[in-house]
Amino acid sequence: MTVKQIDRLKTPRFMQQIESTLEPLEFLDRCAKNYGDLFFSNPFGDLETLVVSHPQDLQELFNPKNNILDAPGAANKIFTPHIGENSLIVADGVRHQRQRQLMMPPFHGEKMLNYGQQICALTQQATQHLKPGETFIARHLSEEITMNIILKVVFGIEEELRFENLKNLMTTWLGLTSSPLRASILLLPFLQKDLGAWSPWGKYIRYRQQIDEQLMAEIVKRRQQEQSSHFDILSLLVAAKYEDGEAMSDAELRDNLLTLLNAGHETTANAIAWALYWIHQQPEVYERVLQELQSLNTPDPMKIAALPYLTAVCQETLRIHPIVIFTFPRITLRSVNLRGYHVAAGTYVTPCIYLTHRREDLYPQPDLFQPERFINRKYSAYEFWPFGGGSRQCLGQVFALFEMKLILATILLNHQLKLEEKVPITPARRGFLMGPKGGVKMSLVVDNAR
Ligand code: HEM
Repeated sequence: MTVKQIDRLKTPRFMQQIESTLEPLEFLDRCAKNYGDLFFSNPFGDLETLVVSHPQDLQELFNPKNNILDAPGAANKIFTPHIGENSLIVADGVRHQRQRQLMMPPFHGEKMLNYGQQICALTQQATQHLKPGETFIARHLSEEITMNIILKVVFGIEEELRFENLKNLMTTWLGLTSSPLRASILLLPFLQKDLGAWSPWGKYIRYRQQIDEQLMAEIVKRRQQEQSSHFDILSLLVAAKYEDGEAMSDAELRDNLLTLLNAGHETTANAIAWALYWIHQQPEVYERVLQELQSLNTPDPMKIAALPYLTAVCQETLRIHPIVIFTFPRITLRSVNLRGYHVAAGTYVTPCIYLTHRREDLYPQPDLFQPERFINRKYSAYEFWPFGGGSRQCLGQVFALFEMKLILATILLNHQLKLEEKVPITPARRGFLMGPKGGVKMSLVVDNAR
C-alpha cells in the first residue's frame, strides 16, 4: 500500500499562532478545507503538532488496547501560570494517574449525586434578584452560579466573608484574560513579563498570589476540622489517601483546587449560556424541554438528570459549540498508520473536538441546532466527544452534565425568559475556551417562583 503524505500548513508559524489565538474556528475551518482531515500545524508556539479529527483516526489513536498515545504533562506547561505546577494537568505518567484516581471519586457516583439539591438551591439564589422586564447577560448569570457551585460545593466554603473575598479575587483574576486580546498573555509566552503591578502580566501574577494565599488558608483550616462533619469535595480530597497511605500535599491540594476552578467554572458557564440561547432561539425546543420538565411530579435532581430530551439539548449544545476545541496535546509512543497516512513515533498530536463535531457525514447541516440527532442516533466516543478522551479525559464530565441539566431545569421551571439578541450569536475565544460572543443578552418576562 502506498503511504500518503500528511500536509504541513504553508502559513508562517507566527501567523498561525496569531490566527489561532484571535479567530480559532475560522482558522480551523480554513485548514480543514485546504488540507483535509489530517494536517501538521503550529497553533501553540514552536511545537509542530498533527491535528486529528476523523473518528476512525481518533479510534485508532485513543483505543486503550492500542497503547499509542501518551499525554505528557510537559506539553501542558502553557497552563502552569493558570493552575500551578503541582496540578494534575501538568503531571506525567504514574504521578498523573495517582492524582486522577484520588480526585475522581468525589465527581462520580453517589457522592456526586448528594450535591444535586445544593446545585438547585444555588441556582435559585442567583436568579431570585432578577426582576420582570430586566435585561441581563446569560453568561454572567451562569458564571455567577458555577462560581458559587465551585466555591461552596467543591471547596466547601461556608463563611460568607471568606466566600465573598475569594469570589471577588477569582472573578477579577479570570476577567484579566477574558477577551481574545487579553487572553494573549496566556497564549503568547513572550508577553509574560512582569513589568510592575500595573502591567498586564504583573497584575495577573499578583492576583494569582493572593488567591494562592487564600486557598492555602482554606486547606489549613480544613485539615484542622473534624473530617466526618464536612461533605464538600475539598474535605474528601484532604481525607483521601494514595495507595501507599500518603495524602496529597498542601501544594498539590492548592494547585488542584485552582485547576478545578479553572477547568470547571467557565466551561460549564459557557455551555449553559449557549444552551439558554438555543432553547430560547427555537420555540419548538423550548416547548418540548419545558413540557418534559413539567411532566415530573417533583423536580427531583435524579429525575431531572435522566430526562432524555433535556440530555439531548445539552449534548447538542456541546456538539455545535464545543467549549474546548482541542484536547490537551498527546504524543505517539510508536509509529501508526492512520487511513494510509504514516505517523512516526514521537509525533505530537492535537486531537480537535471542534472539527469532529462539524463533520457533515456525522451531523448533516452541522450549523443547525437539532437535539433530535441525539435521540435518533447513538454517537460513539470518537464521534461526539466534548470532554476529550483517554487518560486525560475530563475529570468532571459527569459532574458538568449533571450541573448543566440541574441549572437549566431550575431556571426554566422558575422563570420565563426572552432572548434579546437580534442577530445570530457567534462563538468567540474566552481565555483557553470558546463561548458565545457578548454572552447572550436575555430578559426576564415572568418569575414563576414568586
Ligand atoms: C461543559 C463543561 C466541560 C467541558 C466541555 C470540559 C472539557 C474538558 C476537556 C476537553 C478536557 C481535556 C480532555 C483531554 O485532553 O482528553 C478536560 C479536562 C479536564 N477537566 Fe473538564 N470540561 C468541563 C467541565 C469540567 C468540570 C465541571 C470539572 C471539575 C470541576 C472539570 C475538570 C477537568 C480536569 C481536572 C481536567 C484535566 C484532566 C487530566 O489532566 O487528567 N471539567 N475537560
